[in-house]
Parts: sequence; structure tokens; C-alpha cells
Amino acid sequence: MTGTEQRPCRVCAAPIAPFMTFGSMPIANGFLDEADIATEYRFELAPAFCESCATFQLYEQPSPARLFHDQYPFFSSSSQAMAAHFDAFAASVRRRLGARPALVVEIGSNDGTLLQHFNGDGCRGVGVEPAANVAAVARARGLETIEAFFGRALAESLRSQHGPADAIVAANVICHIPDVQDFAAGVAALLSDEGVLVFEDPYVGDMLAKRSYDQIYDEHVFMWSATSVANAIRPHGLELIDVEAQPTHGGSMRYVCGRAGRHPISAAVAALRQSEEAAGICSRTRYDQFRVECEAARDQFRSLLLSLREQGRTVAGYAATSKSTTLLNYCGIDRSLIAYIADTTPLKQGKVTPGSHIPVVSPDVFLADPPEFAVLFAWNHAAEVMAKQQAFTAGGGKWITFVPDVAILDASGGRDA
Ligand code: TMP
Ligand code: ZN
Repeated sequence: MTGTEQRPCRVCAAPIAPFMTFGSMPIANGFLDEADIATEYRFELAPAFCESCATFQLYEQPSPARLFHDQYPFFSSSSQAMAAHFDAFAASVRRRLGARPALVVEIGSNDGTLLQHFNGDGCRGVGVEPAANVAAVARARGLETIEAFFGRALAESLRSQHGPADAIVAANVICHIPDVQDFAAGVAALLSDEGVLVFEDPYVGDMLAKRSYDQIYDEHVFMWSATSVANAIRPHGLELIDVEAQPTHGGSMRYVCGRAGRHPISAAVAALRQSEEAAGICSRTRYDQFRVECEAARDQFRSLLLSLREQGRTVAGYAATSKSTTLLNYCGIDRSLIAYIADTTPLKQGKVTPGSHIPVVSPDVFLADPPEFAVLFAWNHAAEVMAKQQAFTAGGGKWITFVPDVAILDASGGRDA
């Protein structure tokens, strides 16, 4: 990529160009068999920032059908902390809806971990999920699930079949939808007059503050802010009415949107927009600084692993996250530096990681023959993983983290001097 190419912003159509590149990247969730390495798909992972509407977005994205298919390996129920988070998310939406009967449509309902809370007590939940395998899990749990991508056409057919939705909810999904205008048009078509769209996604402000560049991968075509969300939905007669920061996925934001003029606007919206201005989230300069920070973090991580290899220490990884694909490929890490990655997801075990081709094994291997050092790729689930794997540190093992900076942790989770 030369840096001189331009294409229209996905939100406002102003010309944009990448501010950096992470290089050639495979599909982040594209865990593969060794036999398929030669034909692995790659694209250039390069983020862009639109100075007209302040939206952080990928310049190029593989087609969604390549990402969300019948072998999609991510199950919402794989983390206990996320399951608890979804309980609270559902309770907050239900409080907004009050006691009246309500139709709740979830976009990207995955295996039904959130949707299950909108079934019963006067609520009717309908899920929309394009990945066949996870949709089948939800259906087997008795949850009505339509196997499709959400957009205006689907929204219109949902409305004619079920009536207007009182709430549309989505968790870690809206940032995956490249045609954000078609999504917003769909929301405008489906929502009742007083209805609300409540969605949460990883927050660009946290990514910048924590230098968590591993959040940037094919599925995260956007990293939203309050400013960019407001700009994206405005053309569809929608406005941002509330925001609430969430600790999930390394720092997320929950956005509540409704038809313009129909709802009181919480003071939190203006406060967050002011803090975004102050933090430079709306200016290109901040993203140029981020690029420099990413380059330094890459060099640090690689040097640590090279020096451990030189010392003959054993190093493995824990949790084959989608995020780790960007980290491993950008930093040029392979199985000579990290012998294997343990992960609880059966679909990933026995495969190798995308691009870096490190074997994924069951956590039993990690327990039976622990390495001296383990990179904690699921840094956003650090508390849950470290609690589950206490035997590792009790036996002298050390965790390595890389967010907000590269460090070796002591047994209590603090940074070793
Ligand atoms: P995520 O960071 O995209 O949510 O992916 C989490 C991955 O981490 C998923 O593959 C499951 C795995 N995992 C474990 O292997 N053990 C754990 O204790 C937790 C919380 C997650
Ligand atoms: Zn724009």
C-alpha cells in the first residue's frame, strides 16, 4: 500500500487513506489445518481515520462471508465473565423497556447467550445470526434465530412479519458490519417510534490509551466513539441518547440510540464527546502517535521472546484469541518463539493459528507440561484465566502480558521489576 490511494469513508464518503499498515494478514479467526497453510488467504490490514466524521475504520476488509460461516469458531458462552456481563446487559435493556410486552431483536445473536434473557416475561426475542454453526446452537436452545446478515432488506421483512421492534440489541457486532449505512437504515426501518438501539463494541478511546492494537483485525471494521456513532446514525433520523463505559473486551462502550427528538439525552453523551475531543480521538495527530507506539510495542514484544529463546526458556501461549492474530503476525512470531497456544475451544484445538501457524492445544497440555513463561493473549479475560490457572504460577510459571505494555507478571498479577 503506497499511502497515496484513497477510497470513500464508509460513514460519510469523504476520501480516506490508511495512517499505517500492519502488513499482510490472514483471517483472525481463520484457524487452519497444517495441510491448508499453502492456500491461506491474506489481505492487507491497514486502518484509516476519517477526519470529516472522526471514524476509525479498516481501509480494506475481507468479505463478511469469509468471516462468518458454518465453521465460525467463536462462542459467546466460552467466557464465564462474558455470560455474567450479558445478564447485566439484558437487565439494563429490560429496565428501559419497563413492564410492557416487547419485541427485542438481537443482531449477531451467536449461540444465544444474550438472547436467552429476552425470551419470556412478556418479552419476545428474535435473533439474527449469519454463522450457521453458532445459530444452530441457539436454535437447539429453543431460541428463534434467523440465519442472515442484518441490513435494510432483512429489517423490512422482520417488521412486516413481527411488527416494529421495541429494542434492537447487539454486543460486539455492529463494529463488524462494513455497510454501516445499510445497517443504520435497517435500524430506522425496524425500530418502533419510541424504540431503542442498544449496542456495545470495543471503544477506540481504550484502544488508544492501552495501545491495544491487537483489537484491530478483519472483523473489527470500525472502532467506534460517541462522536463517530452520532455521525453515522444522524442521516437516518437517529441520535445518541445515552452512553455507558463497559470493562469488557479490554474497554468497551455501550451506545443507546433512538429516533431523533423522541428521548431525553443523558448528560453522559456530551461529557463523553468532550472527553473524546480532549483525548484527541477526533484528530488525525493522535493516530499518527498511535502508529509510533505500535511500532515500539512490536519491537519490545519481539525482543522479549527472542531473548527468552536465547536463554533456552520454554514459552507457550494461553488463549488463541482472534486478537492474537494481529499481534503474532505484526510482530513476526512463530512456533520457534511460542511452542503452542492452549485454548478451551474444541474447534480451534488440533489446528494452527492463522498466519503464524502455532499449534493450538487443549489446556490439559498446558496443565500437564507447563512452560516457564506463558503469553496471556486473552488479556481482557486476565482475571478469569489467572484464577483458573493458579497451578501455573504456583509451580513457578510466569505470565507475559503486552497490554498496556510488554511485561512479565509476578504471581499476584503485578509487574516484575
Ligand atoms: P476473545 O478474547 O475473542 O473473547 O477470545 C477468547 C478466547 O480465549 C476463546 O478462544 C476462548 C479462550 N479462553 C480460554 O481458552 N480459557 C479461558 O479461561 C477463557 C476465559 C478464554
Ligand atoms: Zn467519514
